[in-house]
Amino acid sequence: MKTFHVKTYGCQMNKHDSERISGLLSSAGYLLESDIERADIIVFITCCVRKHADDRLYGNVAALKKLKTINPSTIIAVGGCLAQNDKDRMYEKLPHVDIVFGTYNQEGLLGLIEKAADGRRVLSVGEEDQELTKPKALRESRFHAWVPIAIGCDNFCTYCIVPYVRGHERSYPIKGIVEDVTDYVSDGVTEVTLLGQNVNSYGRDLYGETRFSELLGELSGIAGLERIRFTTSHPKDLSLDVIDIVREKASICSHFHLPVQSGSNKILEAMGRGYSREKYIQTALKIRSSIEDVSITTDIMVGFPGETDQDFLDTLELMEEVGFDQAYTFIYSEREGTRAAGFTDKVPKEIKDERFRRLVELQDRLCLESNTALLGKKAKVFVEGKAKKGKLRLTGRTDTNKLIHFSGDESLIHDYVDVRINGAFSFYLVGEII
Ligand code: 5AD
Ligand code: SF4
Repeated sequence: MKTFHVKTYGCQMNKHDSERISGLLSSAGYLLESDIERADIIVFITCCVRKHADDRLYGNVAALKKLKTINPSTIIAVGGCLAQNDKDRMYEKLPHVDIVFGTYNQEGLLGLIEKAADGRRVLSVGEEDQELTKPKALRESRFHAWVPIAIGCDNFCTYCIVPYVRGHERSYPIKGIVEDVTDYVSDGVTEVTLLGQNVNSYGRDLYGETRFSELLGELSGIAGLERIRFTTSHPKDLSLDVIDIVREKASICSHFHLPVQSGSNKILEAMGRGYSREKYIQTALKIRSSIEDVSITTDIMVGFPGETDQDFLDTLELMEEVGFDQAYTFIYSEREGTRAAGFTDKVPKEIKDERFRRLVELQDRLCLESNTALLGKKAKVFVEGKAKKGKLRLTGRTDTNKLIHFSGDESLIHDYVDVRINGAFSFYLVGEII
């Protein structure tokens, strides 16, 4: 029997795409192989959000040549965002790659593999308006499922490549999502993460208006579904009805991932984000005042073209004011084809690096403050598994997506337990089962 191995780079949507590709290959009779060196078919799902990711990927795909020399019948397929964006270069520069297949034609992969097995190289990235399909995923976890609710993005933030490689926003209908999640739950899933580049505009393309809170409401009615997570929220579209339903329904997690990108109005405008610093702060404070113990996490970037010291200080000040529970921090990376690539007034590397260092330093302190504020509180935790190191044996996540370690019997793994928080560090909490 032929075996396959899928390697994933980048975001949660890519993780989900990989699970779908695994589902597709296993239903066609291929067997999952955890050791890449022993697999007959190797699939890479790639990311191109930042340049660093591209460089690393080219290196990693190039390194597969060695496997192909040892076993020339190995089939190497590269899909995902970088393959979509850089298809011709990838096909030309990496002759040991048999298949380049992009983001739009996952279901076509089986046919492409047959061609490659016949000794033909194929470049087939599909079309954006191809019908939205849903190959059945082979999930990595029995208890958690990724659920894409919309693909693509209509926002075209000036720095971002995503709309070019994932296309316009297209939502899956509510009915199908609810049916899928109901099936997952009868299969043992207790937690889902709804995925979209902007979950708050969910449904606009299908129904003429956003229906995200309605979708959340329907999903929260599914018996046995303990936790509904969702990402990514967009500050310009997050509406009060969503905040209300998160407060009202216990199974909808009290966590908003709300990327701010910058605290400077001038930079937000140049990024085309569609909100001001004041509007962002107002939304964040509304979330905090409406929902008890909610967590707000974010994405922030330094070094966007034209960013002055004052713009950067505005970002730091906003971070303090909102008190982010966690942040993914980035250095602006120029992406060819985006509008910002043509902007002048680029920030020198040393300044970007120095700002990044200060950004991370501040966020580490804010993470610690946010965790310290939880000391003595109780939290419901899904026990994910054994802690990797240290004396505490178990590890899990709170509904606010905080990592917590505690001692307990391994039989509790994959159950929900109540934990009292009695230790706080920047990146995790410590607790005891009560
Ligand atoms: N440079 C740096 N960071 C970027 N992001 C998106 N595009 C770029 C870019 N060109 C970051 C944003 C986004 C996150 C997923 O990646 O902060 O929210
Ligand atoms: Fe990119 Fe902006 Fe769309 Fe997010 S909202 S995927 S940053 S274009």
